[in-house]
Formats: sequence, structure tokens, C-alpha cells
Amino acid sequence: MNTSNNPHRWFFALWPDEALRNALDTLLDERLSARPGRRVASRNLHITLVFLGPLATDRLSCIGEAAARCAGAPSFELVLDRISWWRQSQVMWLGPGSMPPALEALVGALRVHLADCEIPLDPRPYRAHMTLMRKVRRRPSSFQIKPLKWRPAEFVLVESEPVEHGVLYHRRAAWPLT
Ligand code: 2AM
Repeated sequence: MNTSNNPHRWFFALWPDEALRNALDTLLDERLSARPGRRVASRNLHITLVFLGPLATDRLSCIGEAAARCAGAPSFELVLDRISWWRQSQVMWLGPGSMPPALEALVGALRVHLADCEIPLDPRPYRAHMTLMRKVRRRPSSFQIKPLKWRPAEFVLVESEPVEHGVLYHRRAAWPLT
């Protein structure tokens, strides 16, 4: 099936629970509101695990099977304590200063099982990050934040729909972490 006319993108992600989303809202309101750039809508904040891109619908059952093989994988504590910036993509992001081995293992297992689905995956090393602001054209002055701790209970499959002023993310399925 040809995907070139379908602008929707798919990805696996960690989706903040309500407590983390509230803490992120506070962080964004208190520390980022005066900074140049475009703030990501609170409801859209997430950490991508594997980006899949545009998908033919006949790939979805294979993707679901790959995810199901990772269901019940061990959870981990994420300590989101690092604010950083990428020049090329002009994003300011929040991430863990140290990468939990179980998160690396989850991403690795998803990628291994997705190999059966014949989807081209990004070959770059995984960098856990949550984009907070886009169009940040200059390196932001550095600042410290109070670390946000989070133990994700699940991972999710998300469909991204382009809309007039941005994107809408739809959670299409979820699998538990234990
Ligand atoms: P970003 O926030 O750094 O742009 C939905 O677009 C999610 O997938 C975002 O978290 C985005 O990362 C990520 N993403 C978009 N394109 C990607 C790509 N080519 N490779 C990896 N991740 C990508």
C-alpha cells in the first residue's frame, strides 16, 4: 500500500501520567514562558521510544504483535533533570541525565521485534527526550530545574495527525510495564 498521500505519522512513546503532566505544566509556566520559541502544547508532551513514520494500515497488526512481545517489560525510574537544546532541529528538550538500562532495553526489544514488520527505523542511537519548545533558534542560557521523577506504567502507540496549527496525537493502544 502506498503511504505517500497519508500524512499521519506513528510512533511508540512514554505518555506522561496526570501527576507528571501537572508538574510539567508548572515547569513550563514558571521557567519557559518568557523564552523565545514555540511551546509544545501540554497535552502533547511525551518521550518517543521508536519513531515509525507514515504507515500502511496493513502494517498495524505486525506492529501490535511486536509491541505485545514487549508487554510486561520491567519499568524504570526516569529522573528528568536535564534541559538541553539541539541546534539542528531547534528544539529545547527535557531528558534524564542518566539513561535507565531498562529503558534502553525496552527500546532495543521494540526495535528487534519491529524488524519483522519491514519498516525503516532511524539508525541513530536512541536519545530519550521530551521536546518542550520548538523554533528555539539560539542556545538557551543554561538553568537548573528541580528533577521530575516518573515511573512509567505503560508504553503507547500514537498516531500523529497534522492539523491547521500543529498536530493532534491520538493514543491508539497501550501495553503495560511491570
Ligand atoms: P522531536 O520531538 O525531537 O521532534 C512525533 O513526531 C515524535 O517523534 C516526536 O517526539 C519527534 O521528536 C519524534 N520524531 C519525529 N521524527 C523523527 C525521526 N525521523 N526519528 C526519530 N524520532 C522522530
